[in-house]
Amino acid sequence: MATSRKKLFIKTYGCQMNVYDSGRMADVLAPLGYEPAEEAEGADMVILNTCHIREKASEKVYSELGRLRLQQQEKAAAGERMIIAVAGCVAQAEGAEIMARAPHVDMVFGPQTYHQLPEMVTRAVRGAGGVINTDFPVESKFDLLPGEGATPQGPSAFVSVQEGCDKFCTFCVVPYTRGAEYSRSAAQILEETRRMVANGTVEITLLGQNVNAYHGEGPDGRTWGLGRLIRELAEIDGLRRIRYTTSHPRDMDDDLISAHGQVPQLMPFVHLPVQSGSDRILAAMNRKHTADDYRRIVDKLRDARPGLALSSDFIVGFPGETAEDFAATLRLITDVTYASAYSFKYSARPGTPAAAMAEGRLTEDDKSARLEAVQNLLAEQQRAFNAGLLGTVQEVLFDRRGKHAGQLLGRSPYMQAVHATAPDRLLGQVVPVRVTAVSASSLGGEVVTTESVHGAAQQGAAARPPFISPDIKANHQEMTA
Ligand code: 5AD
Ligand code: SF4
Repeated sequence: MATSRKKLFIKTYGCQMNVYDSGRMADVLAPLGYEPAEEAEGADMVILNTCHIREKASEKVYSELGRLRLQQQEKAAAGERMIIAVAGCVAQAEGAEIMARAPHVDMVFGPQTYHQLPEMVTRAVRGAGGVINTDFPVESKFDLLPGEGATPQGPSAFVSVQEGCDKFCTFCVVPYTRGAEYSRSAAQILEETRRMVANGTVEITLLGQNVNAYHGEGPDGRTWGLGRLIRELAEIDGLRRIRYTTSHPRDMDDDLISAHGQVPQLMPFVHLPVQSGSDRILAAMNRKHTADDYRRIVDKLRDARPGLALSSDFIVGFPGETAEDFAATLRLITDVTYASAYSFKYSARPGTPAAAMAEGRLTEDDKSARLEAVQNLLAEQQRAFNAGLLGTVQEVLFDRRGKHAGQLLGRSPYMQAVHATAPDRLLGQVVPVRVTAVSASSLGGEVVTTESVHGAAQQGAAARPPFISPDIKANHQEMTA
């Protein structure tokens, strides 16, 4: 294939795993001449990297495909071609159905096939009918895709360590769309992270649908858990912050918990979805833990790392959820107290066991009322958590410019968005910031002293040109577990 320059636009839906995968797809297509574009209009290839987790997320894809059809026609009128592809979990789950509903789509391929993209593109360009690939190939895409880190990723980057899930929560499509649990080797992860840090990254978020189920092969031939991997990553010079998401309560082992007390780079914030506070509903969800198991894990985490903050995912209106079950969820939220959280109305996903539970289905109105109650309580906790930081000094990693001139945006250790007046040279730096303003969802602050500013500027990747990361954190925390 000729390597003339072509424009590639990837639209990413859903979780951070998809954000990471979109980056890998761009990498694998670069040698074919595809360069990232900011918008679909005029692009030679558009890939929708989709999410199937809830019905709403899936439906968005079809409306986007409708809009793209018009742009594809405009291009065709000018004698040019726009290849339209659907990747990700909707592609995996619906396969050929997508082409039946949207015949202008050229390629449909699932998350385990991205290393085969060049070959699929060649077939699609030849135009011999649509390309559909929803295989779970025997070879691992991780061994065949260029790892992240070859190109600068910005101050804060993702590293995929684990994919897939064997838990089979009864509401969840992930075990079907992402397949069985698979852990990358520790050597691969360490190598990728070293490269990223050499390119200016100071914070990494280890990604996996069930990230704390990580059990990769260590360089010593033994199986490493996530705690061990984190301890080893913490040895990398210049790596200031380590996060991981998303965890399952069942896999929160003692080694990982103690790492929170022992590894200063490990941020004191854990996204630990509980989904419900009712043991009856947790059992129906096949979560394999009780509400008290979860409370105990939270206590252990906070014993290991005092001040550790938590977030979670909640599903309201699961089939059969009674008023008492729902009250138990509110009780658990009150007991744990969260710094932030996500909550959703139960949405029946085709093919999952819960979709067949006809008994005790809730009306949309009941689900909406419960969602509102849960969200009010969580918002109140988030406001209180933010307000508690007023006047304190927090380390902020500035990772992009703000809307206003002279303003930088970053994240506190607890993942709160923080804005402050600060010079551009602090981009990519971890800087002490005094919190002077709090709102429901963000903090405002002042960089502490010129002295600490100079100190900070000497750390890590100070000499490297700043890289403005895309606003991927805005849709952060869509990972399951
Ligand atoms: N309905 C509603 N929410 C769901 N989630 C996963 N599947 C469903 C579903 N069928 C939520 C869970 C999960 C988060 C990413 O999405 O809370 O943790
Ligand atoms: Fe696996 Fe999480 Fe889905 Fe449960 S909710 S099946 S743990 S991905």
